[in-house]
Amino acid sequence: MGNRQKVLILDFGGQYNQLIARRVRDLGVYSELKNSDMSVEEIKEYAPIGIIFTGGPNSVYEETAPRIDKGIFSLGIPVLGICYGCQLIAYELGGIVRHAETSEYGKRDIRVLKESLLFKGVPEISVSWMSHTDHVAELPSGFDRLAETAEKTCPVAAFGSDDKKIYGVQFHPEVAHSEYGNQLLKNFLYEICKANGDWTMKGFVEKQIALLKEKIGDKKVLCAMSGGVDSAVAATLIHKAVGNQLTCVFVDHGLLRKYEAEEVMEVFKDGLGMNLIKVDAGERFLMKLANVTEPEEKRKVIGEEFIRVFESAAREIGTVDYLVQGTIYPDVIESGKGKSAVIKSHHNVGGLPSVVDFKEIIEPLCDLFKDEVRKVGFELGLPDKVVLRQPFPGPGLAIRIMGEVTEEKLETVKDADYILRDEIAKAGLEKKIWQYFAVVTNSKTVGVQGDFRTYENVIAIRAVTSVDAMTADWARIPFDVLEKVSTRIVNEVKRANRVVYDITSKPSATIEWE
Ligand code: XMP
Repeated sequence: MGNRQKVLILDFGGQYNQLIARRVRDLGVYSELKNSDMSVEEIKEYAPIGIIFTGGPNSVYEETAPRIDKGIFSLGIPVLGICYGCQLIAYELGGIVRHAETSEYGKRDIRVLKESLLFKGVPEISVSWMSHTDHVAELPSGFDRLAETAEKTCPVAAFGSDDKKIYGVQFHPEVAHSEYGNQLLKNFLYEICKANGDWTMKGFVEKQIALLKEKIGDKKVLCAMSGGVDSAVAATLIHKAVGNQLTCVFVDHGLLRKYEAEEVMEVFKDGLGMNLIKVDAGERFLMKLANVTEPEEKRKVIGEEFIRVFESAAREIGTVDYLVQGTIYPDVIESGKGKSAVIKSHHNVGGLPSVVDFKEIIEPLCDLFKDEVRKVGFELGLPDKVVLRQPFPGPGLAIRIMGEVTEEKLETVKDADYILRDEIAKAGLEKKIWQYFAVVTNSKTVGVQGDFRTYENVIAIRAVTSVDAMTADWARIPFDVLEKVSTRIVNEVKRANRVVYDITSKPSATIEWE
């Protein structure tokens, strides 16, 4: 990390915590989310320029509520508490937090009461987004009330002290609904923490290449290339750092979209001149997946087989010291390394087998959010079709086939998916939709095709809008586009006689069906 400035975000379990980290980074300051139980000693060693306490589901008076060591306030490092974080500051410094009779959710007008560095440039009245039941009722001494809700439902919408450089806001400046939220965070970073804005993707690329050069030396590196944006960017970074010491192995596990394998070879081997080996392992994966129907089991089987295939490819190449993977920050958090619960084990983190034949695994993107990875991709000169490619799960089409993965179902899902992609492109919707794909469900229904009764698979179409895959909404694809997709699928795809459209957001559903 070198001397890069960092903001420490202490995680009290709120749902917008990753968003806070992203906002701070977007404002040009590197930030990381860490467990709230970090000790004062650890914080000192981490040496952040500022600390943000996140929101969380607890009430400060609960016995099991997460607390902090009060020593944090004597470090001389500016602190900003959001929602629960705001209440915690008030409570720890001697103020009083009260449980309101009714909760307050949604947009509220906020009135600024006093000039402060935190509210610099924020008009007297502005819209902020609230989500709380408790609120600060009495301030700790030495602090000023900085804002209230215009309707006075929340008397302390913000408090703080420019001398102490400690602030609390009851609302959520990180969400887009808070009109001046970004301004407030910017003020905290630049006016209060005196940030210099050294987190840029250009800087990241330069630093990362230098670090990788130093770390790898003259050793050999093997990269797990999938063709997705993450592994493509990871591989290109390493390629820039150590050139042909890098061998990329592209495992065609047979679970890729139609024509995808050919495209990967074209872009990276022919276009960028990478040392790229394609391993055709489709049959091997299908054999391993025989009779496997449980989604997590599928992921494990695929994850393990992936590593085994790399191992044998590596043996053929000779001694390989490092294995590179395109793991990104949300993968690490969703797989349970952070505070959030395990939702699915993404194969490149959770399903990693314990016996691995390499000296070390390098994950150059493990601190980055997806939009940052894309910026790095552009910085490295990768083409649009790679950088803007829709995310594709490591386990591939296996988790878009309900039940057992068979050659026949694979053919069906590939053909249906190809038609969907084709029609979305023709309608000019590619950039508006985060992910769009077909699923072969494990339901069969009766149909009538060409005067004959058929009993075939139901194909589901899933298309979502999202900014980071943590939450998603179903895409409002125009009916006429859906109609074309449906007509083409039942006419052109084998073993399909019915098409349904998934209209569920995340939560409650996940983006993938398994
Ligand atoms: P879910 O289905 O959890 O997906 O809402 C969130 C994002 O992650 C992708 N995804 C995966 N990516 N390995 C991956 O590399 C996996 O096992 C995996 N499962 C889901 C999914 O496509 C979406 O972009």
